[in-house]
Amino acid sequence: MTKGSTGDAARHVAIIMDGNGRWAQKRGRPRLFGHHAGSKRVRQILQSCPRLGVKYLTIFAFSTENWKRTQEEVAGLMALFRKYILKEAKNLKKNGVRVRFIGDRVRLEESLVDLMDNLEMLTSDNDLVHLTIAINYGGRDEVARAAQRLAYDVKAGRLLPKDIDEQTLPKYLDTHVLPDPDLLIRTSGEARISNFLLWQSAYSEYDFVDTLWPDFTPEMFEEALERFSKRTRKFGSIPA
Ligand code: IPE
Ligand code: IPE
Ligand code: MG
Repeated sequence: MTKGSTGDAARHVAIIMDGNGRWAQKRGRPRLFGHHAGSKRVRQILQSCPRLGVKYLTIFAFSTENWKRTQEEVAGLMALFRKYILKEAKNLKKNGVRVRFIGDRVRLEESLVDLMDNLEMLTSDNDLVHLTIAINYGGRDEVARAAQRLAYDVKAGRLLPKDIDEQTLPKYLDTHVLPDPDLLIRTSGEARISNFLLWQSAYSEYDFVDTLWPDFTPEMFEEALERFSKRTRKFGSIPA
């Protein structure tokens, strides 16, 4: 990415898929109905990525704070993740999508973690689009876990404190193989980051969209990418 350039396509797009609950409530339906509708959008948005030049798509599915919701909603979401993996695995593999999961797996049920591991392995040779799904993910939690692993490496003599810098630390993050997001979209009209990709989004462009996630179409996605391409990224410098 050239410094201070306008017109570049967004290679890595991160999305905070917000508004499923309100979408369902507006229809007098339970919140989980909205989550199911939301998962259908994921398929469409993902499908549009190759055409739109998006190589990396990272989506926020469940935050470390979402455990505060009712047991019913949490269980329903976990069941939905299972269903999504089982249903989509073959297509993802066939369509060249490489899937990765970020977040702390320790608190997730073993059967779900097994499905996640298997899907990562199944799609590990794919390279058309890189889909990263954040489950039990929190930016602060990720940095804290990274710091812990880093401390162990220092203790074991594998790393010197003086060598810890901006290049070393991200190697310990869950996202270590991914580029930083160019564009971060949040649907539902809320203008906050809710603990998503704190380190990685330092220089991302933000786009807060006033549409609830289950209503977010590939056309709206394309419009967001167009808005992005008109922005000037400066990275602290003065554009020529
Ligand atoms: C986002 O939709 C999906 C998850 C957090 C799992 P919400 O469930 O937060 O929907 P709203 O914000 O309550 O409408
Ligand atoms: C962020 O949405 C998490 C996901 C989209 C998975 P939330 O709905 O949980 O965020 P807040 O509570 O509005 O900040
Ligand atoms: Mg929400």
